[in-house]
Amino acid sequence: MSEHDAVEVILAKRDGHELSESQIDWVVAAYTRGDVAEEQMSALAMAILLNGMDRREIARWTAAMIASGERMDFSSLSRPTSDKHSTGGVGDKITLPLAPLVAACGVAVPQLSGRGLGHTGGTLDKLESIPGWRAALSTEEMLAQLEDVGAVICAAGDGLAPADKKLYALRDVTGTVEAIPLIASSIMSKKIAEGTGSLVLDVKVGTGAFMKDQARARELAETMVALGTGAGVRTVALLTDMSTPLGLSAGNGIEVAESVEVLAGGGPADVVELTLALAREMLAGAGVTDVDPADRLADGSAMDAWVRMIRAQGGDPQAALPIARESHVVTAPADGVLTRLDAMAVGLAAWRLGAGRARKEDPVQAAAGVRWHARPGDMVRAGQPLLTLLTDEPERFERARATLEGGYDVAPAGTSYTPSPLVIDRIS
Ligand code: URA
Repeated sequence: MSEHDAVEVILAKRDGHELSESQIDWVVAAYTRGDVAEEQMSALAMAILLNGMDRREIARWTAAMIASGERMDFSSLSRPTSDKHSTGGVGDKITLPLAPLVAACGVAVPQLSGRGLGHTGGTLDKLESIPGWRAALSTEEMLAQLEDVGAVICAAGDGLAPADKKLYALRDVTGTVEAIPLIASSIMSKKIAEGTGSLVLDVKVGTGAFMKDQARARELAETMVALGTGAGVRTVALLTDMSTPLGLSAGNGIEVAESVEVLAGGGPADVVELTLALAREMLAGAGVTDVDPADRLADGSAMDAWVRMIRAQGGDPQAALPIARESHVVTAPADGVLTRLDAMAVGLAAWRLGAGRARKEDPVQAAAGVRWHARPGDMVRAGQPLLTLLTDEPERFERARATLEGGYDVAPAGTSYTPSPLVIDRIS
């Protein structure tokens, strides 16, 4: 006889009760080993979505998910570690310049990343557009690269938080992704098990983000910061705008190209601003306060770290990136000022052009995506190129174009435009 059964736990949460520590430990472990059925866990996930969990329950749930798998240990490294997690946005290539930049400042960055699903891109998909680059590293390879280069971006192995892997797939098909306790414990179980010493969370808010409104984004950020801090990881969160896509491109290879521009000292101002803001937080979390990351972008040392990081994983940083076979230009409809470029519309268009996948097993096109030639606040002239759509399969243009209809506004010249701040708040 086990000490609990699934129906008892489901009924407790259905009726609005707090779950006990032993109920939580039991249900997470039993689900991972297959003793709680998928339909029972889906009922429990829905009860959690509807009735919530308090901070104590979320912390225990997170600990149970960590205990379902292995934990990594970076204590043998000669430098401190810091990691960043973004809740996902459109044109969000920040990890690419950020990891080598922070490494160039003396802090090791163990970045376990994922592939994209839906309208937000995945860091591994972007890097796989570099000829030869490989995402899969053994723990030994990862440790050696962290010691030598200082930065690793690779796929998370199956051993970290296996309970989350199972539960996330279930939530995806049962309408229970949006529960804040489940999102926070899912993200933080992986980050705590990864073993980083400090963590910076980039919690996105806006049309192109998971969290469309600030109140929910703030609640998610506060919950995750409390989980990290409680587990001994120095954790801060920035709330950042995701109503406009980041930079000037969304896709895979085209986002690598934009990241390289940033590492070369150029690139779009918003990508540079967010990269530096997150780098400063990561360095502070690791106790490094005497290095200005802007200097490391300017003196080329961040670029050197990028070249070494790509080479260490088999990639050729000098190789030409793939070019899309077909392109289609969308022009500005009138003279005036661009007052809105909707992140969700751009993200969905990039996805429909082939940059993203609908199912986990789908391939992505390395060269597909969207480039935009103006940002909100810029003056445009009727007929000038506003967006360029890129794909290898021209039959994709029509649906991508339809997605972008209503996704931008051009107002008469002289219309006042107030930019919204990129970094909305900091939560520690
Ligand atoms: N990312 C995760 O890893 N988990 C979630 O639940 C949501 C986003």
